[in-house]
Amino acid sequence: MKFIATATLLALSSVALLADAHISFRYPCPRLGPYSECPQPGDNQWDMVDYDVQSPLGTHDQITDPICKHSASFPGVRPTFQAGQTVSTKMDVDVNHNGGSCQWALSYDNGVTWVVIQDHFQDCMASAPASSTYTVPLTIPANAPSGPAVLNWIWNNNEGNRELYSSCADVVIQGTNGGSLSGVAPLFANYGPSSPLIPERSTYGGNWGKQYFDARPNITIHVPAQKRKRQFVPRN
Ligand SMILES: *[C@@H]1O[C@H](CO)[C@@H](O)[C@H](O)[C@H]1NC(C)=O
Repeated sequence: MKFIATATLLALSSVALLADAHISFRYPCPRLGPYSECPQPGDNQWDMVDYDVQSPLGTHDQITDPICKHSASFPGVRPTFQAGQTVSTKMDVDVNHNGGSCQWALSYDNGVTWVVIQDHFQDCMASAPASSTYTVPLTIPANAPSGPAVLNWIWNNNEGNRELYSSCADVVIQGTNGGSLSGVAPLFANYGPSSPLIPERSTYGGNWGKQYFDARPNITIHVPAQKRKRQFVPRN
C-alpha cells in the first residue's frame, strides 16, 4: 500500500513539475537545485530543495521571486573557472519557448551588482531540444578578477507568458587578484509592471527589446585582492 501511495505521489509531482518547468542551469549547479551531482541539503534542509528550479522568477505582470531566486547554495564545493576559459555550461531544458535573449552576468557581492559577460540575443535556447541537457559555451573574461562569484543566466523567452528567468550558480573565478571588471549591467525585462516589456514572438519581425538592451548602463566593479586561495574552499 505504501509503495502504491508513493508511486501516485511521484506521478502527481512529475505532472506538477512538467507544468511548471522551463529552463535552468544544471552545470554549474543552480542554487538549491535537485540534482544528485550538486551540493546536497543537510539533515534538516530537505524541504529547501527547489524542484521547481527551472521556472521563471515572474512575468511582466508580477514578480514571484527575487533575482537568483535563492540567496545561497547548499554547502559544498564550488566549481573553479579560470579567467579566459570557455566553460561548457549545461542547461536543464524542459521547453525552449522558441528561444529568446540570454545574458550571463557575474557578481562578486552576492547579487548586489552584476556585470554582463556574455549576450546571446533573439534565438538563445531556440535549438535546445525539449527535455534535454543542452550545452552552452560561456567564456569567462580574460581579465576577470579572482574570488567567489555568482554566475547568473538571465533569459527573456520569445513565446508564451512575458517571463524573466534567472538561474544562479555559486562559482570561484581564478583570474586577476584584486582587479576590476567592466561591462554593462544586465537588463531585467518582463519582471513586474515597472520593468521594460519585451513583447512576444520577437523572432517573427517584432520588437525583441533591442532598445532596452542597448540602453543597459555601463558598470565597473572592483574586487578586493584575495588574501589566500584557501579561503575560497567552502566549509562542508
Ligand atoms: C557605455 O560606454 C560606451 C563606450 O564608452 C558608450 O558608447 C555608451 O554610450 C555607454 N552606454 C551608456 C548606456 O551610457
